[in-house]
Amino acid sequence: MMLWDAFVLSWWILFPAYAANMFPPFAKGRHPVDFGANFFDGKRLLGDGKTFEGLALGLLAGTLVGGLEACTRPFWNTIAGQYGAVMPTMTIWVGFTIALGALLGDMAGSFIKRRLSIGRGGNAPLLDQLNFIFGAIALSYWFTEISIWMMLFMFLLTPLIHRLSNIIGYKIKVKSVPW
Ligand code: CTP
Ligand code: MG
Repeated sequence: MMLWDAFVLSWWILFPAYAANMFPPFAKGRHPVDFGANFFDGKRLLGDGKTFEGLALGLLAGTLVGGLEACTRPFWNTIAGQYGAVMPTMTIWVGFTIALGALLGDMAGSFIKRRLSIGRGGNAPLLDQLNFIFGAIALSYWFTEISIWMMLFMFLLTPLIHRLSNIIGYKIKVKSVPW
């Protein structure tokens, strides 16, 4: 069924995007992408939460996950083929465009937050969770196959996964609050 295909194939794009979004904090970056500069409103362009180190690690992680998918694609295609589906194109390059798109989307989100006077790390529900997916889709769309249904699933799944992982993080005591 078409919807089921779209649901399954969505993960193919989501994994590299999630990797690009999850790894930057581990870089413990200290060199902000905006070089500490302010915008016309006197507030930071992006803020200290967007660093070159985080950017590099996110790009590396997302591209590696894409590369891993590329290597195993023939295997997944034999399974998908049984349901008449084909995995979307995946290469190191496609993985890179997903990761770069995710990180650019994330930075666009920070730019918007700063304009709304939301400080670094401040909560912006949906904006925080959807900007990187929007960026990942907008850039990789030109290099792989992403249907409108896949887009829909990716936008629906991401806030749910975000919420779920926070609850799990709270239960296993990695996080102090369940949101
Ligand atoms: N990070 C980074 N470089 C990036 C993206 C993220 O160094 N390009 C690191 C930062 O240490 C950041 C952390 O990952 O604090 C979490 O990322 P995110 O939630 O996107 O940043 P916030 O600190 O919440 O900042 P903002 O309000 O601008 O989203
Ligand atoms: Mg944040």
